[in-house]
Amino acid sequence: MQKIATIEEAWDKKYPEQVVLVITRSPEGKINLMAVGWVCIVSDDPPMFLTGIDDGAYTLELIRKTKEFVIAYPSRSMAEQTLYAGTVHGHHEDKGLQSGLKFIPGEKVHVPISADAVANFECRLVDIIRPGNCPLVIGQVLSSHINADPSVSRLVNWGKGYQLR
Ligand SMILES: Cc1cc2nc3c(=O)[nH]c(=O)nc-3n(C[C@H](O)[C@H](O)[C@H](O)COP(=O)(O)O)c2cc1C
Repeated sequence: MQKIATIEEAWDKKYPEQVVLVITRSPEGKINLMAVGWVCIVSDDPPMFLTGIDDGAYTLELIRKTKEFVIAYPSRSMAEQTLYAGTVHGHHEDKGLQSGLKFIPGEKVHVPISADAVANFECRLVDIIRPGNCPLVIGQVLSSHINADPSVSRLVNWGKGYQLR
């Protein structure tokens, strides 16, 4: 049986929701990262991701400037750092440094990848569209990486208020 609900009540039922880190690098070389739940694969030939990134995010500013970003699937051991990346803006804070995460050079873009993530995808900006109120950033994957340890599992958001584990 179903009953009519508000959109908020219905969206409360969406969990578990995936979470990724969107990593960027400023033209001066500062690494930034944010947590994103609104993300999906939208093409496999060529491979592409779509992410919803709010107007206020420093990440969006950097993607517009550099046309590059990395999508990382954080591991469960990265819960604290992912929450930090998702609750602090990078305009005036060096989140790459403060997060304590380890970054290593990628293969195709100037943005580094996360050493401890389950997987990383180096992306080049294809388009930013705005069908609703949130800018949707579409990136083509130029190179992908996986953790050499197959036992490392992916971090998931289990509920409202960011229940990351
Ligand atoms: C689990 C989680 C999921 C999030 N999902 C999104 C999202 O899909 N889109 C978005 O714009 N912000 C999302 N946020 C909030 C951003 O990560 C947050 O605003 C961040 O501070 C932006 O960082 P920046 O300004 O350095 O880019 C999420 C935060 C968390 C903790």
